[in-house]
Amino acid sequence: MFRGGILAGSAAAALVAAGLFVIAGENGARAQAKKESPLETKEDASARPWKRYTGWPTRDYSKYNTLGNLASPPAPKEPRKISGPITGDPKKGAEMVADRNRGGSCLACHVMGPAGGANLPGDVAPDLSEIGNAGREDEWLFNYIYDARVYNPDTVMPPWGSHGFFDDPKINDMVAFLKTLKSPAVFKTELDDPTKRPPPVEKRDNLDPIENPAMWAVDKAPELWKQTGSTGSSCNTCHSDPKTSFQTWAASMPKWEPRLNKALNVEEFVTRHAKATTGASWFMETDENRAMSVYLHFLANGTPIKIDTSSPEAKAAIERGKELSARKVGQLNMACTDCHGKVANHWIRGQWLGEPKGQYDHFPTWRTSLLAIWDIRQRFQWCQVNIRADELPPDAKEYGDLEFYLATQNEGQKLSVPGIRH
Ligand code: HEC
Ligand code: HEC
Ligand code: HEC
Repeated sequence: MFRGGILAGSAAAALVAAGLFVIAGENGARAQAKKESPLETKEDASARPWKRYTGWPTRDYSKYNTLGNLASPPAPKEPRKISGPITGDPKKGAEMVADRNRGGSCLACHVMGPAGGANLPGDVAPDLSEIGNAGREDEWLFNYIYDARVYNPDTVMPPWGSHGFFDDPKINDMVAFLKTLKSPAVFKTELDDPTKRPPPVEKRDNLDPIENPAMWAVDKAPELWKQTGSTGSSCNTCHSDPKTSFQTWAASMPKWEPRLNKALNVEEFVTRHAKATTGASWFMETDENRAMSVYLHFLANGTPIKIDTSSPEAKAAIERGKELSARKVGQLNMACTDCHGKVANHWIRGQWLGEPKGQYDHFPTWRTSLLAIWDIRQRFQWCQVNIRADELPPDAKEYGDLEFYLATQNEGQKLSVPGIRH
């Protein structure tokens, strides 16, 4: 099977005969055989074993589901029986609901009376400021916090007890606190009230090099383009006019790649194609890969995203991506669709949750808060580590499926890269 390098004429003819070449007619003009792009197919496209980025939480979440593996304990079948009324300490409970070391705190999603009146509480979940009047049984409250799945299998709420965030006495304290909540929340400022807090609007010009430091990549890439690798070739050897050749290409990615049996995105393509042609080792998440990937997207700016979903393999990959986006992962037991589906367009603490459409067209993107370029895979990785799930290596097949699905939800959106985001 063809695996890289330039094909001799006879081999190329054989592949045309075997149907491996696409015959592309340009403007109805003379049809020409389009060669397949050489790809390194044997090696991984990112470091192994994958090591989490410096500065990210170092905890090991291997006891819980990831996008690659199912490991979480099963949901309880029955509510736990509680004998007698719960006598916890409401003061301690008030501290617990605001404790951000335990998965982000209850206030990330709920407004809770006086404790919810500050610190940018979120509104992805009901305001519990008056839950003390709702006549909830102690046993029900305990179990809802311990593991809400016994009452609501599709709950967005993490299983605080069965996934080990809080022990029974701490849950009792929170139940006692909730029972004291009997009057509407009072907010010190409008910003504190998540229902009044204005959604963020990104007004910066992402293609202005003064506003967007990621534009360095667009300057850097043309140098890399001419850099000779171990084979003696550079990108320029075979593509002397990238601005014309790749004017729309990135907007057609990811694509199903039969030679790898996975959905291939721009970043992974850069690693594998560079290796097979120039010999350069540009692993995903290295500076060279970022610069080149930003550049290839940049060249296609303004092009509406349109990906090829026609093959049965592509359709199956997208279907898998859809399923993965609904898989509960991590100690917090959450799915992409929890935050970016069911409760999108709400605040999770001080962060506005976007919906999938509009989440893809600006990647790779500059992160102002981190002074770094993030590609889409690093974003996927953070959205998992953040809910206490182990991330996968950036070239994982599962991410290919997930990105493929995300791209279908962004069809028609015009590329604008590098993006700029908080
Ligand atoms: C990730 C968001 C999220 C976090 C964090 C969260 N909850 Fe919830 N909670 C929800 C949602 C959404 C509901 C609504 C029903 C559902 O989805 O199960 C809910 C419902 C509840 C209810 C039931 C309210 C009712 O009367 O129906 C209680 C009680 C509750 N949460 C307590 C807590 C406590 C205590 C914490 C912190 C230990 C917490 N929640 C943290 C999302 C969250
Ligand atoms: C030895 C020749 C050669 C070199 C060197 C080379 N390429 Fe290619 N490249 C090809 C061929 C052949 C194709 C497939 C036909 C085409 O699209 O031109 C291709 C296709 C591409 C495509 C389109 C892929 C697709 O799916 O259609 C991009 C983007 C690309 N190359 C970028 C690069 C970059 C970046 C470098 C430098 C790291 C590079 N190429 C180096 C030969 C080469
Ligand atoms: C606990 C909630 C939560 C979960 C679960 C979650 N995310 Fe996110 N995600 C966020 C927040 C917060 C942001 C930053 C604000 C925003 O842009 O929505 C974000 C941002 C993103 C962005 C970038 C949006 C942009 O416009 O730049 C993408 C893409 C994304 N998430 C994909 C995913 C995928 C895929 C999953 C599942 C693997 C996932 N997220 C799971 C909370 C979550």
